[in-house]
Amino acid sequence: MKNKEPIILAVVVFFSLVTYYLVEPYAHHVMHKHVESENFTYKDLAKITVDGDAANGKILVTGAAACTGCHSIESDGVPAGMDAVSAAGAYGVNPPDLSNAGVVYDEKFLADLIKNPAHALKVEHKFDAAKGQMHPMVAFYGAGGDLDQEIADMVVYLQSIAVSKDELTPKMAYENACGRCHAMNYEKWTQIGEKPKFKHKKDELAFDIKVLEYQDSLKAYMGKLPPDLSMYIRSRNEQFISTLVENPQNHLEGTAMPRTGVTADAMEKVLEHMRNAGDTKRAERASVGMNVMIFSIIFAIFAFLWKKQVWRDLH
Ligand code: HEC
Ligand code: HEC
Repeated sequence: MKNKEPIILAVVVFFSLVTYYLVEPYAHHVMHKHVESENFTYKDLAKITVDGDAANGKILVTGAAACTGCHSIESDGVPAGMDAVSAAGAYGVNPPDLSNAGVVYDEKFLADLIKNPAHALKVEHKFDAAKGQMHPMVAFYGAGGDLDQEIADMVVYLQSIAVSKDELTPKMAYENACGRCHAMNYEKWTQIGEKPKFKHKKDELAFDIKVLEYQDSLKAYMGKLPPDLSMYIRSRNEQFISTLVENPQNHLEGTAMPRTGVTADAMEKVLEHMRNAGDTKRAERASVGMNVMIFSIIFAIFAFLWKKQVWRDLH
């Protein structure tokens, strides 16, 4: 009888290749809509046309505009009015510290956010002022002067206190723009901050309970708990993540996740942070892969020898 094994092998290889190169990419294409990025230029938002005055901006941010009623500005000596859990109880989510808002967020976005939060964040489907559904961040209607001038002043103030682009680390960008909603277990990040190492189990449990309380408020605010992002860099491609952040509605119509308004540079840093988190086990994975290959080869040799041994007498 002719040896059929090479033919069987060829058939298996053929179908594996067809699945890998044709069927899988096709299925992926059908299930995941391709969205082009606008490179974080926020073309739908108006440019700031007047020069801002940082000194007046500071007076507004800490005074008439009441930003510091809800937000801390640690770098400029304004501590948080309440802890993260209480803040989430009041607003649904902890309003982020504004120390580096001027470098993390696009300036057109900041200006629009101050004027109309639900519009800038693209959550008007959830917060329709006409129906009495107010966004927890109150809009600024002006302090008596020219509204656009006052907003430009505040944006320039936020830019003046922020660290420079080069000093903004991937971790800072992530914590600022995503950290109040998305935990990152692999980096010990919870929505209320980094989980410390505890000496006593009791203290650790107390911390975990605070996280759970925060998550309850967040769940009620968002409709669901935003997923832990430790592994997203591997389960979704970077193009998907970045176009999702640029405009969540493009991928998940009606989603509660807001547009965060990050700059292109801050987005690159968020991705870098996600790579650092999701790929820490890369070296380990590669070495395990190699061991499995070596094992398979040795196993195959033994299997082949054993097969010859068994069939010897029958042929
Ligand atoms: C105010 C809360 C909030 C912020 C801030 C936020 N997200 Fe989300 N995010 C959500 C919610 C809620 C969902 C779940 C969306 C859904 O299923 O409709 C989500 C989902 C996601 C998903 C999963 C999407 C999917 O298809 O499974 C990714 C990835 C993500 N967010 C990335 C980010 C990144 C990166 C940032 C920071 C630049 C960020 N998010 C900021 C609330 C937030
Ligand atoms: C009544 C409380 C309140 C006031 C006043 C307020 N904010 Fe906020 N702010 C919030 C909350 C709550 C969020 C988070 C919203 C969310 O994630 O859905 C937020 C979010 C932000 C963000 C992050 C946006 C993003 O895309 O991640 C910035 C920046 C910001 N506020 C700036 C300001 C400035 C500047 C002022 C003053 C002009 C201000 N806020 C006034 C409650 C407030």
